[in-house]
Amino acid sequence: MEQNNRVTFGSKLGVILATVGCAVGLGNIWRFPYMVGSNGGAAFLLIYFLCILLLGLPVMLTEFYIGRHTQCNTAGAFKQIAPGTRWHLIGYNGVLASLFILGFYSVVAGWTLQYIFEAIGGGLDGKTAEDFKLGFEAFSTEIWLPIFWTLIFIALTHIVIISGVKGGIERTSKFMMPLLFVILIALCIRSVTLPGAMEGLIFLFKPDFSRIDSSVVLSAMGQAFFSLSIGMGCLITYASYFQKDTKLQRTALEVTLLDALVAILAGIMIFPAVFSFNIAPTAGPELVFITLPNVFQQLPWGNVWSAVFFILLAVAALTSTISLHEVPTAYVHEEYNIPRWKAALIVSFGVAVLAIISSLSFGVLKNMTIGGLIFFDFLDYLTAKIMLPLGGMLICIFVARRVDRKVLKAELTNQGTIPFHFFNTYVFFMRFVAPIAIGIIFLNELGVLQWIVRLFS
Ligand code: PHE
Repeated sequence: MEQNNRVTFGSKLGVILATVGCAVGLGNIWRFPYMVGSNGGAAFLLIYFLCILLLGLPVMLTEFYIGRHTQCNTAGAFKQIAPGTRWHLIGYNGVLASLFILGFYSVVAGWTLQYIFEAIGGGLDGKTAEDFKLGFEAFSTEIWLPIFWTLIFIALTHIVIISGVKGGIERTSKFMMPLLFVILIALCIRSVTLPGAMEGLIFLFKPDFSRIDSSVVLSAMGQAFFSLSIGMGCLITYASYFQKDTKLQRTALEVTLLDALVAILAGIMIFPAVFSFNIAPTAGPELVFITLPNVFQQLPWGNVWSAVFFILLAVAALTSTISLHEVPTAYVHEEYNIPRWKAALIVSFGVAVLAIISSLSFGVLKNMTIGGLIFFDFLDYLTAKIMLPLGGMLICIFVARRVDRKVLKAELTNQGTIPFHFFNTYVFFMRFVAPIAIGIIFLNELGVLQWIVRLFS
Protein backbone atom coordinates (compact mmCIF):
# COMPACT_ATOMS: atom_id res chain seq x y z
CA MET A 1 0.00 0.00 0.00
CA GLU A 2 1.43 3.35 -1.00
CA GLN A 3 0.46 5.21 2.11
CA ASN A 4 3.14 7.76 2.59
CA ASN A 5 3.93 9.10 -0.81
CA ARG A 6 0.42 8.66 -2.06
CA VAL A 7 -0.51 10.67 -5.12
CA THR A 8 -2.85 13.58 -4.54
CA PHE A 9 -4.85 15.92 -6.71
CA GLY A 10 -2.61 18.79 -7.79
CA SER A 11 -4.59 21.90 -6.84
CA LYS A 12 -7.57 23.08 -4.83
CA LEU A 13 -9.59 23.73 -7.96
CA GLY A 14 -8.63 20.28 -9.16
CA VAL A 15 -10.03 18.74 -5.97
CA ILE A 16 -13.35 20.53 -6.30
CA LEU A 17 -13.75 19.89 -9.99
CA ALA A 18 -12.76 16.25 -9.82
CA THR A 19 -15.15 15.65 -6.93
CA VAL A 20 -17.93 17.60 -8.62
CA GLY A 21 -17.10 15.63 -11.75
CA CYS A 22 -17.61 12.44 -9.80
CA ALA A 23 -20.94 13.61 -8.37
CA VAL A 24 -22.35 15.35 -11.42
CA GLY A 25 -23.15 12.98 -14.22
CA LEU A 26 -25.94 11.02 -15.81
CA GLY A 27 -27.46 10.86 -12.34
CA ASN A 28 -28.29 14.55 -12.54
CA ILE A 29 -29.16 14.96 -16.19
CA TRP A 30 -30.57 11.57 -17.16
CA ARG A 31 -31.70 9.80 -13.97
CA PHE A 32 -32.97 12.76 -11.94
CA PRO A 33 -35.55 13.94 -14.52
CA TYR A 34 -37.00 10.51 -15.08
CA MET A 35 -37.16 9.85 -11.34
CA VAL A 36 -38.99 13.16 -10.85
CA GLY A 37 -41.23 12.28 -13.80
CA SER A 38 -42.19 8.84 -12.59
CA ASN A 39 -42.54 9.80 -8.92
CA GLY A 40 -45.03 12.59 -9.24
CA GLY A 41 -42.95 15.74 -9.73
CA ALA A 42 -42.49 18.42 -7.09
CA ALA A 43 -43.34 16.24 -4.07
CA PHE A 44 -40.42 14.01 -5.00
CA LEU A 45 -38.21 17.06 -5.41
CA LEU A 46 -38.98 18.24 -1.91
CA ILE A 47 -38.09 14.92 -0.30
CA TYR A 48 -35.01 14.70 -2.47
CA PHE A 49 -33.79 18.02 -1.08
CA LEU A 50 -34.47 16.92 2.47
CA CYS A 51 -32.48 13.74 1.84
CA ILE A 52 -29.58 15.68 0.37
CA LEU A 53 -29.32 18.05 3.29
CA LEU A 54 -30.16 15.78 6.20
CA LEU A 55 -28.56 12.55 5.01
CA GLY A 56 -26.32 13.35 2.08
CA LEU A 57 -24.22 16.09 3.57
CA PRO A 58 -23.33 14.26 6.80
CA VAL A 59 -22.57 11.02 4.96
CA MET A 60 -20.38 12.86 2.46
CA LEU A 61 -18.38 14.58 5.17
CA THR A 62 -17.96 11.28 6.98
CA GLU A 63 -16.62 9.67 3.81
CA PHE A 64 -14.20 12.56 3.35
CA TYR A 65 -13.01 11.97 6.89
CA ILE A 66 -12.39 8.26 6.33
CA GLY A 67 -10.65 8.76 2.99
CA ARG A 68 -8.29 11.54 3.86
CA HIS A 69 -7.51 10.21 7.31
CA THR A 70 -6.54 6.77 6.10
CA GLN A 71 -5.33 7.60 2.57
CA CYS A 72 -6.48 4.18 1.48
CA ASN A 73 -8.82 2.51 -0.97
CA THR A 74 -12.29 1.92 0.38
CA ALA A 75 -11.80 -1.56 1.87
CA GLY A 76 -8.29 -0.79 3.16
CA ALA A 77 -9.58 2.33 4.90
CA PHE A 78 -11.92 0.34 7.12
CA LYS A 79 -9.20 -2.20 7.85
CA GLN A 80 -6.90 0.58 8.94
CA ILE A 81 -9.37 2.20 11.34
CA ALA A 82 -10.75 -1.07 12.72
CA PRO A 83 -8.17 -3.80 12.16
CA GLY A 84 -9.23 -7.38 12.77
CA THR A 85 -12.95 -6.62 12.56
CA ARG A 86 -15.55 -7.16 9.88
CA TRP A 87 -16.18 -3.47 9.23
CA HIS A 88 -14.26 -3.66 5.97
CA LEU A 89 -17.27 -5.50 4.54
CA ILE A 90 -18.68 -1.98 4.04
CA GLY A 91 -15.77 -1.45 1.68
CA TYR A 92 -16.63 -4.60 -0.25
CA ASN A 93 -20.21 -3.38 -0.54
CA GLY A 94 -18.77 -0.25 -2.19
CA VAL A 95 -16.51 -2.15 -4.55
CA LEU A 96 -19.42 -4.33 -5.69
CA ALA A 97 -21.76 -1.35 -5.97
CA SER A 98 -19.27 0.40 -8.26
CA LEU A 99 -19.17 -2.58 -10.59
CA PHE A 100 -22.95 -2.89 -10.61
CA ILE A 101 -23.48 0.83 -11.24
CA LEU A 102 -20.97 0.77 -14.07
CA GLY A 103 -22.88 -2.21 -15.43
CA PHE A 104 -25.91 -0.06 -16.31
CA TYR A 105 -24.37 3.42 -16.36
CA SER A 106 -21.99 2.53 -19.20
CA VAL A 107 -24.96 1.52 -21.33
CA VAL A 108 -26.59 4.93 -20.98
CA ALA A 109 -23.22 6.59 -21.53
CA GLY A 110 -22.95 4.53 -24.72
CA TRP A 111 -26.34 5.88 -25.85
CA THR A 112 -24.97 9.42 -25.58
CA LEU A 113 -22.21 8.48 -28.03
CA GLN A 114 -24.76 7.24 -30.55
CA TYR A 115 -26.64 10.55 -30.26
CA ILE A 116 -23.44 12.53 -30.79
CA PHE A 117 -22.76 10.50 -33.87
CA GLU A 118 -26.28 11.00 -35.22
CA ALA A 119 -26.27 14.72 -34.50
CA ILE A 120 -22.99 15.22 -36.32
CA GLY A 121 -24.22 13.22 -39.29
CA GLY A 122 -27.43 15.30 -39.47
CA GLY A 123 -29.52 12.26 -38.55
CA LEU A 124 -31.71 14.14 -36.06
CA ASP A 125 -32.95 16.65 -38.64
CA GLY A 126 -36.62 17.09 -39.44
CA LYS A 127 -37.91 14.44 -37.04
CA THR A 128 -41.12 14.71 -35.01
CA ALA A 129 -41.58 13.86 -31.33
CA GLU A 130 -43.04 10.52 -32.39
CA ASP A 131 -40.03 9.80 -34.63
CA PHE A 132 -37.67 10.39 -31.74
CA LYS A 133 -39.65 8.04 -29.56
CA LEU A 134 -39.76 5.26 -32.10
CA GLY A 135 -36.14 5.90 -33.07
CA PHE A 136 -34.99 5.50 -29.50
CA GLU A 137 -36.98 2.32 -29.02
CA ALA A 138 -35.57 0.80 -32.18
CA PHE A 139 -32.01 1.72 -31.23
CA SER A 140 -32.08 0.63 -27.60
CA THR A 141 -33.60 -2.76 -28.35
CA GLU A 142 -31.06 -3.54 -31.06
CA ILE A 143 -28.27 -6.01 -30.27
CA TRP A 144 -25.00 -4.74 -31.68
CA LEU A 145 -25.04 -0.96 -31.94
CA PRO A 146 -25.74 -0.15 -28.27
CA ILE A 147 -23.19 -2.78 -27.21
CA PHE A 148 -20.63 -1.29 -29.57
CA TRP A 149 -21.01 2.21 -28.05
CA THR A 150 -21.07 0.84 -24.52
CA LEU A 151 -17.79 -0.96 -25.09
CA ILE A 152 -16.29 2.19 -26.62
CA PHE A 153 -17.30 4.08 -23.49
CA ILE A 154 -15.79 1.48 -21.19
CA ALA A 155 -12.59 1.69 -23.24
CA LEU A 156 -12.53 5.50 -22.86
CA THR A 157 -12.94 5.15 -19.11
CA HIS A 158 -10.19 2.59 -19.06
CA ILE A 159 -7.79 4.90 -20.89
CA VAL A 160 -8.35 7.76 -18.44
CA ILE A 161 -7.95 5.42 -15.49
CA ILE A 162 -4.61 4.09 -16.63
CA SER A 163 -3.36 7.63 -17.25
CA GLY A 164 -3.44 8.07 -13.47
CA VAL A 165 -4.95 10.45 -10.97
CA LYS A 166 -3.48 13.80 -11.89
CA GLY A 167 -3.06 13.51 -15.63
CA GLY A 168 -6.31 11.70 -16.30
CA ILE A 169 -9.00 12.40 -13.76
CA GLU A 170 -8.09 15.92 -12.74
CA ARG A 171 -7.29 17.30 -16.17
CA THR A 172 -10.49 16.03 -17.78
CA SER A 173 -12.72 17.41 -15.02
CA LYS A 174 -11.09 20.82 -14.90
CA PHE A 175 -11.71 21.43 -18.51
CA MET A 176 -15.19 20.07 -19.05
CA MET A 177 -17.28 20.77 -15.96
CA PRO A 178 -17.50 24.58 -16.39
CA LEU A 179 -18.55 24.14 -20.00
CA LEU A 180 -21.38 21.88 -18.96
CA PHE A 181 -22.85 24.57 -16.71
CA VAL A 182 -22.88 27.15 -19.48
CA ILE A 183 -24.64 24.93 -21.94
CA LEU A 184 -27.20 23.77 -19.37
CA ILE A 185 -28.17 27.34 -18.60
CA ALA A 186 -28.53 28.18 -22.27
CA LEU A 187 -30.81 25.16 -22.76
CA CYS A 188 -32.91 26.07 -19.71
CA ILE A 189 -33.57 29.46 -21.26
CA ARG A 190 -34.68 27.86 -24.53
CA SER A 191 -36.89 25.37 -22.74
CA VAL A 192 -38.77 27.81 -20.51
CA THR A 193 -39.57 29.98 -23.51
CA LEU A 194 -41.28 27.14 -25.39
CA PRO A 195 -45.09 27.32 -25.71
CA GLY A 196 -46.73 25.54 -22.76
CA ALA A 197 -43.56 25.66 -20.68
CA MET A 198 -45.44 26.78 -17.58
CA GLU A 199 -47.12 23.43 -17.12
CA GLY A 200 -43.71 21.79 -16.88
CA LEU A 201 -42.51 24.24 -14.28
CA ILE A 202 -45.66 23.66 -12.23
CA PHE A 203 -45.07 19.91 -12.40
CA LEU A 204 -41.51 20.43 -11.19
CA PHE A 205 -42.11 22.99 -8.46
CA LYS A 206 -45.68 22.74 -7.15
CA PRO A 207 -45.92 19.77 -4.81
CA ASP A 208 -48.94 17.51 -4.66
CA PHE A 209 -48.51 15.91 -1.25
CA SER A 210 -51.00 13.17 -1.99
CA ARG A 211 -48.36 11.67 -4.29
CA ILE A 212 -45.99 10.89 -1.43
CA ASP A 213 -45.81 7.24 -0.43
CA SER A 214 -43.10 4.90 0.79
CA SER A 215 -41.81 4.15 -2.67
CA VAL A 216 -41.51 7.87 -3.53
CA VAL A 217 -39.51 8.41 -0.35
CA LEU A 218 -37.24 5.45 -1.07
CA SER A 219 -36.74 6.65 -4.65
CA ALA A 220 -35.86 10.17 -3.46
CA MET A 221 -33.37 8.82 -0.95
CA GLY A 222 -31.87 6.53 -3.58
CA GLN A 223 -31.57 9.39 -6.03
CA ALA A 224 -29.87 11.58 -3.40
CA PHE A 225 -27.29 8.90 -2.64
CA PHE A 226 -26.73 8.05 -6.27
CA SER A 227 -26.40 11.64 -7.37
CA LEU A 228 -24.00 12.62 -4.60
CA SER A 229 -21.97 9.42 -5.21
CA ILE A 230 -22.17 8.53 -1.53
CA GLY A 231 -22.56 5.31 0.41
CA MET A 232 -20.15 3.23 -1.64
CA GLY A 233 -16.70 4.54 -0.93
CA CYS A 234 -16.23 6.54 -4.09
CA LEU A 235 -15.72 9.68 -2.06
CA ILE A 236 -13.57 7.75 0.41
CA THR A 237 -11.33 6.85 -2.50
CA TYR A 238 -11.31 10.41 -3.88
CA ALA A 239 -10.72 11.96 -0.46
CA SER A 240 -7.72 9.69 -0.10
CA TYR A 241 -6.18 11.77 -2.91
CA PHE A 242 -7.03 15.10 -1.22
CA GLN A 243 -4.20 17.19 0.10
CA LYS A 244 -3.82 17.67 3.84
CA ASP A 245 -4.91 21.30 3.55
CA THR A 246 -8.05 20.61 1.51
CA LYS A 247 -11.00 22.06 3.42
CA LEU A 248 -13.29 19.11 3.87
CA GLN A 249 -16.37 20.89 5.19
CA ARG A 250 -16.31 23.46 2.46
CA THR A 251 -15.69 20.90 -0.25
CA ALA A 252 -18.64 18.80 0.96
CA LEU A 253 -20.93 21.82 0.96
CA GLU A 254 -19.81 23.02 -2.45
CA VAL A 255 -20.08 19.62 -4.06
CA THR A 256 -23.54 19.04 -2.60
CA LEU A 257 -24.87 22.42 -3.69
CA LEU A 258 -23.39 22.23 -7.18
CA ASP A 259 -24.75 18.74 -7.62
CA ALA A 260 -28.25 19.83 -6.56
CA LEU A 261 -28.00 22.88 -8.81
CA VAL A 262 -27.17 20.82 -11.87
CA ALA A 263 -30.10 18.51 -11.14
CA ILE A 264 -32.49 21.44 -10.83
CA LEU A 265 -31.17 22.98 -14.02
CA ALA A 266 -31.68 19.65 -15.76
CA GLY A 267 -35.27 19.62 -14.46
CA ILE A 268 -35.86 23.15 -15.74
CA MET A 269 -34.35 22.16 -19.05
CA ILE A 270 -36.47 19.06 -19.45
CA PHE A 271 -39.95 19.43 -17.97
CA PRO A 272 -41.13 22.50 -19.87
CA ALA A 273 -40.08 20.68 -23.04
CA VAL A 274 -41.75 17.44 -21.94
CA PHE A 275 -45.08 19.22 -21.57
CA SER A 276 -44.60 21.41 -24.59
CA PHE A 277 -44.05 18.37 -26.85
CA ASN A 278 -46.67 16.25 -25.14
CA ILE A 279 -44.28 13.55 -24.00
CA ALA A 280 -45.33 11.52 -20.94
CA PRO A 281 -43.21 12.61 -17.94
CA THR A 282 -43.36 9.00 -16.75
CA ALA A 283 -41.51 7.76 -19.84
CA GLY A 284 -38.59 6.29 -17.85
CA PRO A 285 -34.94 5.97 -18.85
CA GLU A 286 -35.64 7.20 -22.38
CA LEU A 287 -37.14 10.52 -21.20
CA VAL A 288 -34.07 12.66 -21.81
CA PHE A 289 -33.22 10.95 -25.08
CA ILE A 290 -36.66 11.68 -26.52
CA THR A 291 -37.22 15.12 -25.05
CA LEU A 292 -33.98 16.91 -25.71
CA PRO A 293 -33.59 16.23 -29.42
CA ASN A 294 -37.06 17.80 -29.74
CA VAL A 295 -35.82 20.95 -28.03
CA PHE A 296 -32.79 21.07 -30.28
CA GLN A 297 -35.02 20.86 -33.34
CA GLN A 298 -36.56 24.14 -32.24
CA LEU A 299 -33.26 25.93 -32.45
CA PRO A 300 -31.34 27.29 -35.37
CA TRP A 301 -28.27 25.06 -35.79
CA GLY A 302 -30.20 22.30 -34.04
CA ASN A 303 -27.63 19.65 -34.89
CA VAL A 304 -24.78 21.66 -33.49
CA TRP A 305 -26.67 22.14 -30.22
CA SER A 306 -27.45 18.44 -30.02
CA ALA A 307 -23.88 17.47 -30.75
CA VAL A 308 -22.47 19.86 -28.15
CA PHE A 309 -25.01 18.83 -25.56
CA PHE A 310 -24.47 15.10 -25.97
CA ILE A 311 -20.71 15.59 -25.99
CA LEU A 312 -20.96 17.35 -22.66
CA LEU A 313 -23.31 14.71 -21.32
CA ALA A 314 -20.82 12.06 -22.37
CA VAL A 315 -18.05 13.96 -20.61
CA ALA A 316 -20.14 14.38 -17.45
CA ALA A 317 -20.74 10.64 -17.62
CA LEU A 318 -17.04 10.00 -18.13
CA THR A 319 -15.96 12.00 -15.07
CA SER A 320 -18.35 9.79 -13.11
CA THR A 321 -17.45 6.47 -14.72
CA ILE A 322 -13.78 7.10 -13.98
CA SER A 323 -14.63 7.73 -10.33
CA LEU A 324 -16.64 4.53 -10.25
CA HIS A 325 -13.88 2.58 -11.97
CA GLU A 326 -11.27 4.00 -9.60
CA VAL A 327 -12.95 2.34 -6.59
CA PRO A 328 -12.42 -1.31 -7.62
CA THR A 329 -9.19 -0.49 -9.46
CA ALA A 330 -7.58 1.08 -6.38
CA TYR A 331 -8.91 -1.80 -4.31
CA VAL A 332 -7.51 -4.56 -6.50
CA HIS A 333 -4.24 -2.68 -7.06
CA GLU A 334 -3.57 -1.91 -3.40
CA GLU A 335 -5.04 -4.91 -1.63
CA TYR A 336 -3.71 -7.61 -3.96
CA ASN A 337 -0.52 -5.84 -4.99
CA ILE A 338 -1.35 -6.16 -8.65
CA PRO A 339 0.01 -3.47 -11.02
CA ARG A 340 -2.47 -0.68 -11.63
CA TRP A 341 -2.83 -1.38 -15.36
CA LYS A 342 -3.65 -5.02 -14.68
CA ALA A 343 -6.13 -4.14 -11.95
CA ALA A 344 -7.84 -1.72 -14.33
CA LEU A 345 -8.03 -4.38 -17.02
CA ILE A 346 -9.68 -6.89 -14.70
CA VAL A 347 -12.25 -4.28 -13.67
CA SER A 348 -12.98 -3.17 -17.24
CA PHE A 349 -13.51 -6.76 -18.28
CA GLY A 350 -15.97 -7.41 -15.45
CA VAL A 351 -17.85 -4.21 -16.22
CA ALA A 352 -18.06 -5.08 -19.91
CA VAL A 353 -19.75 -8.40 -19.13
CA LEU A 354 -22.35 -6.76 -16.88
CA ALA A 355 -22.92 -3.92 -19.35
CA ILE A 356 -23.50 -6.26 -22.28
CA ILE A 357 -26.18 -8.12 -20.32
CA SER A 358 -27.77 -4.78 -19.29
CA SER A 359 -27.81 -3.51 -22.81
CA LEU A 360 -29.40 -6.71 -24.10
CA SER A 361 -32.01 -6.55 -21.36
CA PHE A 362 -33.89 -3.89 -23.35
CA GLY A 363 -34.26 -6.24 -26.29
CA VAL A 364 -33.47 -9.92 -26.59
CA LEU A 365 -33.10 -10.47 -22.85
CA LYS A 366 -36.16 -8.50 -21.80
CA ASN A 367 -37.90 -11.60 -20.52
CA MET A 368 -35.03 -12.46 -18.20
CA THR A 369 -36.31 -10.55 -15.18
CA ILE A 370 -35.24 -10.51 -11.54
CA GLY A 371 -38.02 -9.61 -9.12
CA GLY A 372 -40.01 -8.32 -12.09
CA LEU A 373 -37.20 -6.01 -13.25
CA ILE A 374 -35.10 -6.33 -16.37
CA PHE A 375 -31.37 -6.69 -15.64
CA PHE A 376 -30.66 -2.99 -16.31
CA ASP A 377 -33.38 -1.86 -13.88
CA PHE A 378 -32.38 -4.51 -11.39
CA LEU A 379 -28.80 -3.18 -11.19
CA ASP A 380 -30.15 0.35 -10.83
CA TYR A 381 -32.61 -0.64 -8.08
CA LEU A 382 -30.12 -2.78 -6.19
CA THR A 383 -27.44 -0.09 -6.09
CA ALA A 384 -29.33 3.20 -5.73
CA LYS A 385 -32.10 2.00 -3.46
CA ILE A 386 -30.34 -0.66 -1.41
CA MET A 387 -26.54 -0.80 -1.53
CA LEU A 388 -25.81 2.93 -1.36
CA PRO A 389 -28.23 3.89 1.44
CA LEU A 390 -27.23 0.77 3.36
CA GLY A 391 -23.56 1.64 2.85
CA GLY A 392 -24.21 5.22 3.99
CA MET A 393 -25.98 4.00 7.10
CA LEU A 394 -23.15 1.63 7.98
CA ILE A 395 -20.48 4.26 7.30
CA CYS A 396 -22.16 6.57 9.82
CA ILE A 397 -22.56 3.81 12.39
CA PHE A 398 -18.95 2.80 11.85
CA VAL A 399 -17.50 6.26 12.47
CA ALA A 400 -19.87 6.86 15.38
CA ARG A 401 -18.69 3.66 17.05
CA ARG A 402 -15.05 3.39 16.11
CA VAL A 403 -13.72 6.92 15.85
CA ASP A 404 -12.87 9.18 18.71
CA ARG A 405 -14.59 12.57 18.47
CA LYS A 406 -11.32 14.39 18.95
CA VAL A 407 -9.66 12.54 16.09
CA LEU A 408 -12.69 13.18 13.91
CA LYS A 409 -12.71 16.87 14.72
CA ALA A 410 -8.97 17.23 14.17
CA GLU A 411 -9.25 15.81 10.65
CA LEU A 412 -12.33 17.84 9.73
CA THR A 413 -10.73 21.07 10.96
CA ASN A 414 -7.29 20.37 9.45
CA GLN A 415 -5.77 19.91 12.92
CA GLY A 416 -7.68 22.83 14.38
CA THR A 417 -6.57 25.37 11.78
CA ILE A 418 -10.07 26.02 10.45
CA PRO A 419 -13.23 26.33 12.55
CA PHE A 420 -16.13 23.87 12.48
CA HIS A 421 -19.02 25.76 14.07
CA PHE A 422 -21.56 23.03 13.53
CA PHE A 423 -19.44 20.13 14.68
CA ASN A 424 -21.91 18.98 17.34
CA THR A 425 -24.81 19.26 14.94
CA TYR A 426 -22.87 17.27 12.38
CA VAL A 427 -22.06 14.57 14.93
CA PHE A 428 -25.71 14.39 15.96
CA PHE A 429 -26.80 13.97 12.34
CA MET A 430 -24.08 11.44 11.59
CA ARG A 431 -24.69 9.38 14.75
CA PHE A 432 -28.46 9.46 14.95
CA VAL A 433 -30.43 11.23 12.26
CA ALA A 434 -28.84 9.66 9.18
CA PRO A 435 -28.73 6.02 10.30
CA ILE A 436 -32.16 6.10 11.93
CA ALA A 437 -33.83 7.88 9.02
CA ILE A 438 -32.30 5.51 6.49
CA GLY A 439 -33.36 2.55 8.63
CA ILE A 440 -36.93 3.84 8.86
CA ILE A 441 -37.15 4.42 5.12
CA PHE A 442 -36.01 0.85 4.52
CA LEU A 443 -38.45 -0.65 7.02
CA ASN A 444 -41.22 1.47 5.61
CA GLU A 445 -40.57 0.33 2.07
CA LEU A 446 -40.42 -3.28 3.17
CA GLY A 447 -43.79 -2.82 4.80
CA VAL A 448 -42.44 -3.60 8.28
CA LEU A 449 -43.61 -0.28 9.73
CA GLN A 450 -47.12 -0.65 8.36
CA TRP A 451 -47.21 -4.09 9.88
CA ILE A 452 -46.17 -2.78 13.31
CA VAL A 453 -48.74 0.03 13.14
CA ARG A 454 -51.44 -2.50 12.28
CA LEU A 455 -50.31 -4.70 15.15
CA PHE A 456 -50.91 -1.93 17.65
CA SER A 457 -54.08 -0.46 16.22
N1 PHE B 1 -23.15 10.57 -8.98
C1 PHE B 1 -22.96 10.05 -10.31
C2 PHE B 1 -24.01 10.67 -11.19
O1 PHE B 1 -24.87 11.34 -10.72
C3 PHE B 1 -23.03 8.56 -10.35
C4 PHE B 1 -22.14 7.91 -9.35
C5 PHE B 1 -22.68 7.17 -8.33
C6 PHE B 1 -20.77 8.10 -9.43
C7 PHE B 1 -21.87 6.61 -7.37
C8 PHE B 1 -19.96 7.54 -8.49
C9 PHE B 1 -20.50 6.79 -7.45
O2 PHE B 1 -24.01 10.46 -12.36
